[in-house]
Amino acid sequence: MKIIVTGGAGFIGLNFIKSLVNLKHKIVCIDYINNASNYNEIKKLHKLKKINFKKIDINDYLKIKKIIINFKPDIIVNFAAESHVDNSIKTPKLFFNSNVLGTLHLLEAIRFCINNSYIINNKFKLIHVSTDEVYGSLKFKEKKSNEFSQYKPNSPYSASKASSDHIVRSYFKTYQIPSIITHCTNNYGPWQNGEKFIPTIINSYLQNIKIPIYGNGKNIRDWIYVDDHNSAIRKIMKRGKIGDVYNISGKNQINNIKLVSMICSILNKKTSSNRNISNLMQFVDDRKGHDLRYDISSKKIERELDFFPKYTLNNGLNITIDWYIQNFKKNEFKKK
Ligand SMILES: NC(=O)c1ccc[n+]([C@@H]2O[C@H](COP(=O)([O-])OP(=O)(O)OC[C@H]3O[C@@H](n4cnc5c(N)ncnc54)[C@H](O)[C@@H]3O)[C@@H](O)[C@H]2O)c1
Repeated sequence: MKIIVTGGAGFIGLNFIKSLVNLKHKIVCIDYINNASNYNEIKKLHKLKKINFKKIDINDYLKIKKIIINFKPDIIVNFAAESHVDNSIKTPKLFFNSNVLGTLHLLEAIRFCINNSYIINNKFKLIHVSTDEVYGSLKFKEKKSNEFSQYKPNSPYSASKASSDHIVRSYFKTYQIPSIITHCTNNYGPWQNGEKFIPTIINSYLQNIKIPIYGNGKNIRDWIYVDDHNSAIRKIMKRGKIGDVYNISGKNQINNIKLVSMICSILNKKTSSNRNISNLMQFVDDRKGHDLRYDISSKKIERELDFFPKYTLNNGLNITIDWYIQNFKKNEFKKK
């Protein structure tokens, strides 16, 4: 297949590309490169001719249109987004520019190409990768969100992703742009930016500094190993129904204190240390508008596409921690 991956230098996009490069697909990666991007790694893949990398903003309608006209993709997977909630609180405009206007410009380029028969494959689809955060916060005992739950985004990040979902939906309903929207839970794994929670825990431990935990640490997230998320996307690429929404859960709900304890006890074993884990934690002022709990049901993708995550939290964390230890030694992934 011919696949355009936007945001392919980022954490999930890069892992997605790596899962495809040896399967004889033709891949164009579009990314404007920010501090979360793995620029050297994507350049390496480009030099090896495994992919074609284009350093472009998805807001650049003319350049995106040109790539689509020349490459004639079978699929576009849109990972491109500003993704760090804390940064969205500091610089919301940047998030609305990339996540909302960027999605709009990408859709406009696709619309032009379909209308003018530059995309002739009638199986063409856009997979728009979104987040469980659009459903907002749940109380501890509230029912899981599903594909029909109301959108209640609370941060500028989740509001920008929710807006982008609505634009994708409207382009499907109004212009029949073949698209699918996914909502995945929190990802973790290799190549994630040092600012995100799990890399921060690992790198703080390795640097022997306190691990910052927001508020009282009782917030619950559902964690998915990045390869599981990407295998769900690959199933959706093959058999996902146009116009549909799929939630993707990792089935690993855990609160932040327990997650930190779990990671530190794995690290204690791996580094033959016996550090007192409670002493490593430092509770800091809560994030503004911090959501208490996310929890989604992924019964639909299980039933319709036979997707089940393969990694337990323990397996996924062990692989991730090994990767960060290796790369920490190379001095690459220290917390910025
Ligand atoms: N990380 C998670 O836990 C998670 C969970 C669910 C959904 N998602 C979604 O998955 C996607 C990828 O997330 P990630 O964690 O890999 O993020 P990331 O921040 O690691 O990577 C995003 C990439 O997109 C690029 N990008 C941003 N705006 C762009 C623009 N206007 N034009 C071109 N490139 C642009 C960035 O340069 C970066 O390389 C995002 O859409 C995010 O909302 C992430």
